[in-house]
Amino acid sequence: MKNILVLYYSQTGQIKEIIYSILKPFDKTEFNIDFIEIKPETEYPFPWPADKFFDVFPESKEGISCKLRPIEIKEPDKYDLIILGLQVWYLEPSIPVASFLKSNYAKVLENKPVITVFGVRNMWINAHQEMKRLINNVKGRLIGNIVFADRHNNLISVLTIIRWLFKGKKEASKFLPDAGVSDNEIKSASKFGIEIQKALQNNRLSDLQGRLENLGAVKVDYHIMKTEFAGSRMFGIWSSIILKRSSGNIKKRKRLLRLFKYYLYFVIYVISPISSAVFRLIRLLFPKKTKNQIIKQISIIS
Ligand SMILES: Cc1cc2nc3c(=O)[nH]c(=O)nc-3n(C[C@H](O)[C@H](O)[C@H](O)COP(=O)(O)O)c2cc1C
Repeated sequence: MKNILVLYYSQTGQIKEIIYSILKPFDKTEFNIDFIEIKPETEYPFPWPADKFFDVFPESKEGISCKLRPIEIKEPDKYDLIILGLQVWYLEPSIPVASFLKSNYAKVLENKPVITVFGVRNMWINAHQEMKRLINNVKGRLIGNIVFADRHNNLISVLTIIRWLFKGKKEASKFLPDAGVSDNEIKSASKFGIEIQKALQNNRLSDLQGRLENLGAVKVDYHIMKTEFAGSRMFGIWSSIILKRSSGNIKKRKRLLRLFKYYLYFVIYVISPISSAVFRLIRLLFPKKTKNQIIKQISIIS
């Protein structure tokens, strides 16, 4: 019997649904699968009041941990594979997942093969780099990464995710599609499970990622990746200014966060369409160079 541990955090349950779908083909007589939910001591609200949504920005970006509810892992040594389900908050691993990886509980990853499964809107590459660093810090071995994203146009998915996160409405409305990862993509996730099961049965985990990628585990649009990198640099400046200037002063923090919110909407709807067009052109002009940049960023090697 082989043992798999699934660790995940999810507000809407999306990532849990995705991982269930991945694991559906697993032969239950051959594999024991344990699920553990990572839970913050004080839950983040869902749907999000707008103020609270922006209020988690500086701590998300700076990787400042929250307290977690106690986690009991009965026999940490028994696991043959750990699957870590997460989402991205402000281009970084969400606070609960990053907090888990910085806590003593993360010792369970030591010397264990780890597969990360992202359920995001469309910007996850910066968080992937941070996940590699955090997993490496606890001596885990990242052997796979599968990314589930909203495949709609960037500006559309901003509108639908706002509707979902602020109002709890995932379903399509009159003018806008469903938010989040599509049902079809979630259903088809079992193709990855078949490959992971085979790799465990044949002890061939070290070269699994190539096979997962052949099945479409990681899809990257160059213009989204470059937009994300520009955003990440600016987020770093904003978060350090907000934390330094407002330390302890709630009114000041609120004022700065309001400015950040206006900045964010301006960048998304005014700057990013222009920069995206430029990045698309660069992609067309330099296919080889841009492809190599993507390959470097999606690598699971630290
Ligand atoms: C505070 C916050 C910030 C987010 N920032 C990003 C982001 O930078 N990139 C992205 O692709 N998705 C982002 N999302 C969407 C999430 O990654 C995720 O897809 C969605 O919240 C559903 O996750 P769940 O598994 O917790 O339900 C953000 C969500 C929240 C709540």
